[in-house]
Amino acid sequence: MPSDRRAIAAKSRDVDALMATTVKHYVRRHVWVPAARQRQQRLGRPIRYFTLTTKEIYDIRLLERAGILQRTERGYPGVGFCEMDDEQHAAIQRRLGWCAWSYKGRFEEMVDNHPQFGTDFEFDVINLDFISVPFPDGDAPLSGTWGALRKLLQHQFSHSISFDLFLTFRGSRCGTDDGALREIVSLLESNLRNGRGAVQFEARTGHRDPVRLLSHDYVRFLCDGIPKLLAGEALTLGYKISRLDSFVYERAGSRGPYPILKFVLSLEVPSRSPGFADPPAIVADYDALVPVIFGKSPVDVGALLGSDQQLSEEVASDLAALRPPDAAATPP
Ligand SMILES: C[S@@+](CC[C@H](N)C(=O)[O-])C[C@H]1O[C@@H](n2cnc3c(N)ncnc32)[C@H](O)[C@@H]1O
Repeated sequence: MPSDRRAIAAKSRDVDALMATTVKHYVRRHVWVPAARQRQQRLGRPIRYFTLTTKEIYDIRLLERAGILQRTERGYPGVGFCEMDDEQHAAIQRRLGWCAWSYKGRFEEMVDNHPQFGTDFEFDVINLDFISVPFPDGDAPLSGTWGALRKLLQHQFSHSISFDLFLTFRGSRCGTDDGALREIVSLLESNLRNGRGAVQFEARTGHRDPVRLLSHDYVRFLCDGIPKLLAGEALTLGYKISRLDSFVYERAGSRGPYPILKFVLSLEVPSRSPGFADPPAIVADYDALVPVIFGKSPVDVGALLGSDQQLSEEVASDLAALRPPDAAATPP
């Protein structure tokens, strides 16, 4: 096996074990499921769900169990997935059976190269549970993963699809492109210079200096920068934002723990004749966006579970119930 294939396979095996942790499962059960349920209720039908999953398909089975995703004798007609590891891809496909969309390769390539992306890719909830940093070294600043995300937003908007975006990144700085970080710094600086969210930023950090935030609190820097980039893009296209939340927890790694960052954005295409059922926008324009982001703190999932034993036990027992019989047991 070539060495890059071996590296992907080794990374995927590590990921398998980390999928069965209570912090991860808390987000599935108490963040993703309620957001997807709201979307299903608004639509009045099962959702179309695109995901980066694993062979245990925990996220898919949880949504199915909640009645949000349809399962038939042949498989999951509303599910789409993409997987860069060949073995994982085959294992997921076997577990799913028939599904609406399946791509073997990187999400970023899929968005660029899949011949049916522009016509057939239409999903109500998109779960991009990446295992990488948001701005990898080697990608040109804000291209690569970020470029694919921009294309995804443009594509969904051009098809008039309101949707929920669940986004996960590794929150460590190692392997990150400095040019992308400089672009985010200058974006934050120009907001603060123009007074957008400056009061909220200073109340939280004690200063108005994005460079200092970058060097002293990288996680908070990303929790300001990533939603701003994404939500700014979505507002420019014409979306309204009805949810914008962030979550953080620590994950064990072979070289020590590192943070995982999760974002949930609900993006609504404004209807031509706004009706009673339209979800209220928390943000409808850029001036309103920045203070909301700078004023918010990410939920610390580890601290939350640490302070609520009952919740922690409930999440652990739900995870155990969901684990497929052939999955390796991992202590939560
Ligand atoms: C964190 S796991 C998904 C866990 C799942 N959402 C759950 O709740 O259990 C991410 C999966 O996506 C794959 N993956 C990560 N980044 C990818 C990318 N850029 N393109 C395609 N697949 C990717 C990994 O190989 C892994 O199998």
